[in-house]
Amino acid sequence: MSARARKWLGVLAALGVVGAAAALWVHTKARRRLERVHRVHSDVPSVSRAEPERRAASVARGEHLVHARYGCAHCHGEDLGGGFMLDESAMGRWPAPNLTRGEGGLPADFDLSDWDKAVRHGVRRDGTASVMPSQDFAAMSDEELLDIVTYVRSLPPVDRELPPRSFGPVGTLLLALGELQLAAESLASRTEHPTRPPHEAPTAEFGAHLAQTCIACHGRSFAGGPIRGGAPDWPPASNLTAHADGLATWTFEDFERLMREGERPDGTTVRTPMREVTQLGRRMSGTELRALWAFLRSLPEMPAPR
Ligand code: HEC
Ligand code: HEC
Repeated sequence: MSARARKWLGVLAALGVVGAAAALWVHTKARRRLERVHRVHSDVPSVSRAEPERRAASVARGEHLVHARYGCAHCHGEDLGGGFMLDESAMGRWPAPNLTRGEGGLPADFDLSDWDKAVRHGVRRDGTASVMPSQDFAAMSDEELLDIVTYVRSLPPVDRELPPRSFGPVGTLLLALGELQLAAESLASRTEHPTRPPHEAPTAEFGAHLAQTCIACHGRSFAGGPIRGGAPDWPPASNLTAHADGLATWTFEDFERLMREGERPDGTTVRTPMREVTQLGRRMSGTELRALWAFLRSLPEMPAPR
């Protein structure tokens, strides 16, 4: 072998060692995040809803929360018998479990504190982090959680088995780099949750509660911008404040049409993922949309971040 060839062989071997070390680092780092056990202080009271009239009202409220407000069915399936949050080779396969009592569904002893851990803290039953975006549900009140559980338990059982969760190479890399958020890391130790939601009226106060589910995309200031952790083909989220590059000239009717039909005042339509949000908007009540609007109008005007 010539000296030159030997030199290149040496370089390749060195690269191989660096590559293997990097791969090992990525896997170790990702595994550490997935295997960490989080301690949760579940604070949901186990209120008995024995009286039939109260139970019926709770089921109706739970149904509305699941299908019009929190979007649980978007991932867990219209029948809540399970679906996929994500199913791709690069990122991973993330089944959203069957929440009914059918074959492949929640175990019979899945209790209220398990529900609380899963929904408001982003923690799986074994204490490890879930990939469910529980940040959206962190401000959910005890009453709402109980209504959702009462509704889900009233559903007919669905028999559906889903495969276990897995991560692809890109998902593993994003986990290692901290680019993929795991709600448990910020929510596991959170204890304060309101007992009840604000009074249901077209007020900014009730609107602020509803708007918690918009923050993951539109940001805490609601001024929009690129969506952290979003798919690469998602457009930036719009500015929802009354700033000139936001909703300055919009009326409530314009907002309502967008939330229900996805159509802007200029006749253009919103793209994914806002288009999917309109499936919830379509089922919101007039009071809910007016409350959201009152809240958005109460925000300080802000330019969209670049
Ligand atoms: C963006 C998709 C998505 C949405 C929206 C969503 N979930 Fe999930 N959910 C998941 C995924 C994925 C898992 C499994 C996570 C894991 O194990 O890493 C999960 C897990 C759960 C679990 C735990 C089940 C088990 O077998 O341990 C419960 C309970 C649950 N979700 C309830 C809800 C409720 C109630 C809502 C609405 C308030 C909701 N989810 C909204 C994706 C979602
Ligand atoms: C999953 C991410 C996501 C969530 C959740 C979300 N949005 Fe959006 N929203 C977007 C994106 C992205 C756009 C821009 C779509 C486009 O440019 O086609 C948008 C656009 C809009 C627009 C149109 C504004 C304009 O100038 O065109 C309104 C209004 C809006 N969102 C309101 C809301 C409200 C209210 C909520 C909560 C109830 C919400 N969105 C939740 C991602 C989201």
